[in-house]
Amino acid sequence: MAEPAKGATAGAVPVRVLHVSDIHCGHPFVAAHVAAALAMAAASRFNAIVISGDFAQRARIHEFERAREILARFRAIAPTIEVPGNHDTAWWSAPFGWGNADRLHERYRQYINPVLEPVVRVPGVSMVGLNSAAGMLPQAVTSYPRDWRVKGGLTIAQFGWAARELAASPVGDLRLLVMHHNVVRGHLSQRWGLKQPDVALDRIAAMSVDVVCTGHDHEERTDVVQRTTGRFIVSGANTLSNRMRKRRPSALNVIEATATHVTVRAWAYHDGAFVPGPMSTTLDRG
Ligand SMILES: [Fe+2]
Ligand SMILES: [Fe+2]
Repeated sequence: MAEPAKGATAGAVPVRVLHVSDIHCGHPFVAAHVAAALAMAAASRFNAIVISGDFAQRARIHEFERAREILARFRAIAPTIEVPGNHDTAWWSAPFGWGNADRLHERYRQYINPVLEPVVRVPGVSMVGLNSAAGMLPQAVTSYPRDWRVKGGLTIAQFGWAARELAASPVGDLRLLVMHHNVVRGHLSQRWGLKQPDVALDRIAAMSVDVVCTGHDHEERTDVVQRTTGRFIVSGANTLSNRMRKRRPSALNVIEATATHVTVRAWAYHDGAFVPGPMSTTLDRG
């Protein structure tokens, strides 16, 4: 593992987090995108790496085997936090809540992480993961069949737990909440990731959180969300697979924080490497 960044508090020396998502091992997998992401991670100092779900395509064993190898390479570079996506979820194990919900993430737990909602604290950064990939459990199912198996959901208990974990972070830490489903409506897809998105936004904004890291929508986003309960930055990472929308380039995000500001910048794939652009957002941490 690379040496941790020295003085890794969100002070004079910025803390830096790499955010990638939606690798989709299986037929959408693009080796060049993943190789470029690994090369970027290895070439710079990152305090942590966020991988926000959809490691697999159809939750198949051979897909998870490949994802496990890639995850090991990221983990050799910096501490990681990962959460499951809907493509990592065996929704058929518990359709509409019938069946065995414990089997929804059986393979994910075996190959990726036995903990579905990890808390990872490294010097300068506290990260809390939420499992929004609820398959067809009630918290994710809507009255629209098009949403089934795709839309995410979170319970009141999950929000409460995440809020308590984030509040327990050391003073000055960059605080990240990580989940798979997008919390803002996709510009290109026009779709919300979560059931009851307004409730989710209010609850997240009320937390002690700087940045919410998401994937799923396959569109990069760096937005400030302002609610009556608070505000935060969205780091929506595009996919590293070939499932980019509108033939746009693959992209990943870099989160950088000092004591006073946090910036999320998207980096787009171009000629074998990720380069800065096309968007960034900065928020003061006051
Ligand atoms: Fe995806
Ligand atoms: Fe997804």
